[in-house]
Amino acid sequence: MAADRVEPYARLAGVYDEIVVDPCYPRWADFIVDRFRSSSAAVDTVLDVCCGTGLLAAELVSHGYRVVGVDSSPAMLTRAEALLGPEATLVAATLPELGVDTIFDAAISTFDGLNYLTRSDLGLSLAAIAERVRPDGWFIFDLHTDTMMRFTAANPVVSGEAAGNRFVITSEVDQIARSCDTTIEVIEARRGEPFSERHRQYFHSAETVRAELAAAGFDDVQVFDEYSDQPIDDVTLRATWTARRSTRHPRRLVETTPGTTEGR
Ligand SMILES: C[S@@+](CC[C@H](N)C(=O)[O-])C[C@H]1O[C@@H](n2cnc3c(N)ncnc32)[C@H](O)[C@@H]1O
Repeated sequence: MAADRVEPYARLAGVYDEIVVDPCYPRWADFIVDRFRSSSAAVDTVLDVCCGTGLLAAELVSHGYRVVGVDSSPAMLTRAEALLGPEATLVAATLPELGVDTIFDAAISTFDGLNYLTRSDLGLSLAAIAERVRPDGWFIFDLHTDTMMRFTAANPVVSGEAAGNRFVITSEVDQIARSCDTTIEVIEARRGEPFSERHRQYFHSAETVRAELAAAGFDDVQVFDEYSDQPIDDVTLRATWTARRSTRHPRRLVETTPGTTEGR
């Protein structure tokens, strides 16, 4: 049967945990927790930006953190609620809107969530995240590298089978525009009908990310090869960035409670 074309993540949410994810989340969480524990001020609250089905949030909750998840996809948030339980705070918001008004000790964004943003929205989103992280708080996230851009252009079709779902992922990379249109087709679904989704992502150069982090009010920026202690090199596909909310620009903070203004 021909696959129906649906909104990004509307149907993928149902099979995301089965077909999209390699078993990386415990290792990624260990990296994040190690960073949190390395700072003198305790980390308790974490904002998970583009939280998806909540796989990374669940790892952090198991480590004792209080996590609030934000995502634009209602279907992904439904899965996250099923995983994290009804007590979890999950917010439907589309970056650069965050839909939260409290201050967190840290923010994270895993598995390429920020690659969905244009350069302009990346800058606005980093600024919005900076406004929600306390001074010296962490922001840890990952992004595709330029090596990933070239690798995807050279290997545009990936197919496979997982948990009774057969899928084909086809990527069209525009290396000038630094964009990638990916068609994800589940051609045989374990549950329900086949479907097809089209996702647009963007590749941001390391220089762009550094510039936008600085403009947003983050410093102490470091980059690692996918949630490891290794530096990135020319085979790194996914870069993990760690940054701290600057303590030198407290005036960038915004109102935290009605009627009070912290350093506008
Ligand atoms: C590849 S998934 C990653 C999910 C999760 N962070 C993980 O590690 O599994 C990307 C997520 O980003 C969300 N997303 C994409 N663009 C977004 C935007 N502009 N605002 C909020 N969420 C967005 C999608 O709905 C999706 O859940």
